[in-house]
Amino acid sequence: MPLSVLMVGAGEYIAGYVPTTHGAASDKPAGVVALTCFDLRRLGMVQRILLCDICGIKLPEVRHTIKSKIGDVYRGMDVSLECFPADDVECDPEAVHKVCGPSAYIVILLACPVPDKESHAFMTTMSIPGNINHGRECEDTITLLTQWRNKQDGSLGTAMYTASWVTPRADAHTQQHFHYMGSNGEVRVDQAHRGYSQATDCGGYSSLNPLYMRYVPDSLGYFAGQTGYGYQSIAQFIQACQELNAGMRTMSDIQIEGNLALVDDTLAVTAILEAGRRSLDAGGMPVSICYDSQGRPVNLVLMDAGSNNIQKSLYS
Ligand SMILES: NC(=O)c1ccc[n+]([C@@H]2O[C@H](COP(=O)([O-])OP(=O)(O)OC[C@H]3O[C@@H](n4cnc5c(N)ncnc54)[C@H](O)[C@@H]3O)[C@@H](O)[C@H]2O)c1
Repeated sequence: MPLSVLMVGAGEYIAGYVPTTHGAASDKPAGVVALTCFDLRRLGMVQRILLCDICGIKLPEVRHTIKSKIGDVYRGMDVSLECFPADDVECDPEAVHKVCGPSAYIVILLACPVPDKESHAFMTTMSIPGNINHGRECEDTITLLTQWRNKQDGSLGTAMYTASWVTPRADAHTQQHFHYMGSNGEVRVDQAHRGYSQATDCGGYSSLNPLYMRYVPDSLGYFAGQTGYGYQSIAQFIQACQELNAGMRTMSDIQIEGNLALVDDTLAVTAILEAGRRSLDAGGMPVSICYDSQGRPVNLVLMDAGSNNIQKSLYS
C-alpha cells in the first residue's frame, strides 16, 4: 500500500527554496526531495505528501516556488501538498509534533539547521597535424580550425576541434571535452567525468549533472530523472519502508544489501565527531570511544592526561 510522506524543512534540499539572490545550488535548482515524492505519487508509490517547517509565513512562497519550478515544468505532475504550520505562524519549533493525519508517515528529512544555432555552413578548415605515429603513415592527433556561418542571420562562429588516436594509461579511454561560447552564454562538457555546465546571460550558471538529478523533461514533457542517484536515494528508502511494512524484507536484509545509509552506519562517524567536540570542550583532553560486542559505539569516556577515566557519558 502506498505510504504517506512527511517532509520536514521547506528549504533547498526539499523544495529548492532559497530566498537569497544566489538562489538554490546550480545542481539542484528545483530541490530533490519534494520533486522525487511528487513523481513517486504520480507513479503510485506514494499517497499523501505533507510538508512541515518551523516557519509558517514562508510557506506561501515555498508553494509558489514548487509550482513554478515543478508544477509548471513537468507534464502531469500534481504538486498539491498539505503544509504545516498554518501560513500565519511565524515560528513553531514544535510544528512537526502537531502534524495531523495518518499515523504511518515516513519522515524523510529533518532539515534543521547546445549550441542551438542550427544549419551551419562549413567555410574553411585548417588542419594542424600532431606527431606522426612512428611506423604508420597517420597522425596521432589532429586539430582543425573552422569557421561556420549561421544560415539564418549570417553570424560567424569559430570552432577548434582536436581528435586524438593515442592515449597514455589514464583514467578514461575517451577524454571528450566540449566548450561552446555563444552570444548569450556558454556550455562546457567534460564527458569522461560526466561534468556538464552552462552559463547564460539570463539564467546564470547551472551545473547539469544528470547522474545526480536530471531536471530536463523528456520529449513529452514528463519528468525523466528517475535514474539519478538523488532520486534513487529517496525512492529506495520509501520502497524499503513499504517492503518492511509488508514483511517482504527485514532490517537485516537491508543492512546486508548495504544500499541505504542506516543509523548504525552513521553512528560510528557521529561518535568520532562527538568525541572531538568533547575533547575540545575539555581543553584537548583525550576521549575514548567504547564499543559494544557488535562494534557499535556506546560510550564516550573523557580521560585525564594519565589515561584515567574521569567522566562517563552515553551520548548525553
Ligand atoms: N541542500 C542540499 O543540497 C542537501 C543535500 C543533502 C542533504 N542536505 C541536508 O538536508 C538538510 C537541509 O538542508 P537545506 O539545504 O535544505 O537547508 P535549508 O536551510 O535550505 O532549509 C532548512 C529548512 O528547515 C527549516 N527548519 C529549521 N528548523 C526546523 C524545525 N525544528 N522544524 C521544521 N523545520 C525546521 C528551516 O526553516 C528551513 O526552511 C541539512 O541537514 C542538509 O545537510 C542538504
